[in-house]
Amino acid sequence: MVKTATCAFRKASLLCRFMSEFASGKIRFPHSHLLGIEGLTSNVISLLLDCAENFVEHNRQTDNKLSSLSGRTIINLFFEESTRTRTSFELAAKQLGANVINMSVATSSVKKGETLIDTAMTLNAMHPDVLVVRHSESGAVKLLSEKVNCAVINAGDGRHEHPTQALLDALTIRRRKGHISGLLVAICGDIAHSRVARSNIHLLNAMGAQVRLIAPKTLIPSSIAKMGVEVFNNMEEGLQDCDIVMMLRLQSERMSSGFFPSIREYFHFFGLDYKKLANAKDDALIMHPGPMNRGVEIASEVADDLGRSAIREQVEMGVAVRMACLELLTAISTKGNGT
Ligand code: NCD
Repeated sequence: MVKTATCAFRKASLLCRFMSEFASGKIRFPHSHLLGIEGLTSNVISLLLDCAENFVEHNRQTDNKLSSLSGRTIINLFFEESTRTRTSFELAAKQLGANVINMSVATSSVKKGETLIDTAMTLNAMHPDVLVVRHSESGAVKLLSEKVNCAVINAGDGRHEHPTQALLDALTIRRRKGHISGLLVAICGDIAHSRVARSNIHLLNAMGAQVRLIAPKTLIPSSIAKMGVEVFNNMEEGLQDCDIVMMLRLQSERMSSGFFPSIREYFHFFGLDYKKLANAKDDALIMHPGPMNRGVEIASEVADDLGRSAIREQVEMGVAVRMACLELLTAISTKGNGT
C-alpha cells in the first residue's frame, strides 16, 4: 500500500510542497532498501538530499513533530556498538511519528546463539515497516534484506558501506559549499577499515567531486585506486588545494596487527593539525564522522574550530538524512524483493 504522506504543519511550506509532490507520485524513490550508495544514481542521491534539506529547516522549529510515519514500526537492530547512528535513527523515526524499538545484541537472543537470519525472521514476523541494521560483517545486511519483507536500511556493515553517513556528509558539504560537483575532497586516515570512506567515495564520484585518499601505505587497500580516486601517502601533498578535509578514526577494533609504529608517530605524520591544514584551501571544511580520537587522527583545536569544522553540523544533518530515508522508503508500494 502506498502511504500518503501527510503535512501536519502547514507553516513548513517547503516541506509540505515536497511531501505533496511525493504523495502525488511526481517524485518517487526507486529502491526497496537502502543497502549502500554504490548503484544509486546522482538523481536518487539528490532526491534524498533534497528531502533531507526540507527536514533540516523543519527540525529547527520548536513545534516540529510530524505524523507521516504514524502507525509504522521501525526496529533498530544493532549487532555492533553505536551512539550517534542509533540515536539519530531513533530520533528521526520519532520525529516522523513512528513507533521505535531498539534492539542491541547485548539484550537479544543472539547472545543465546540465535543466528542473524533467525533473529531477522523473528523480527519480521512482527511486521515492522523498516529494519535498521548494523553488523560487523560486510554483506550481512544485504543477506538479511533478502530474508525479510520489509524495507532494510544499512546502518553500517563491516568495512563495506555506511550509506546514511555518506548522505549526511554530502548534505553538510552541499549546505556549506552550495554544491558537490567539482570539489576536491580529501579522505584521510584509516581507509582500509572504513565503510564511511567507501560510501563517500561512491557518493562523491556519482556527484562529480574529485576524491583523494591520504593514508599510510598499510591503511590503503591496493585495489582502491580502481574506485576512481587519487592516492597519497603524505598529508602535505595530498591536502594541496583541497576544499574538504574528511578525517577518519583509526579503527583499532578491526585491526589484527600493528599498522603503524605508534600513535605518536601516526599523529605526527597523519594527524590533522593547523600546520598540515595550511596546505588545503583557506576555506577548506573539516569533517569527521565520529567518534573522534583527539590527538590521534585530529588535534582538538582543529576539531573544535567553529569557523572551519563542520563536525557538529554533521550530527544535525544525520537526523534529517535519516528522516528522509525512512520517509522515502516507507512510501513505496512494494515491500522487499528489491535492491
Ligand atoms: C562510523 C562507523 O561506525 O562506521 N561512525 C559512525 O557511524 N558515526 C565511523 C567510525 O566508527 O569510526
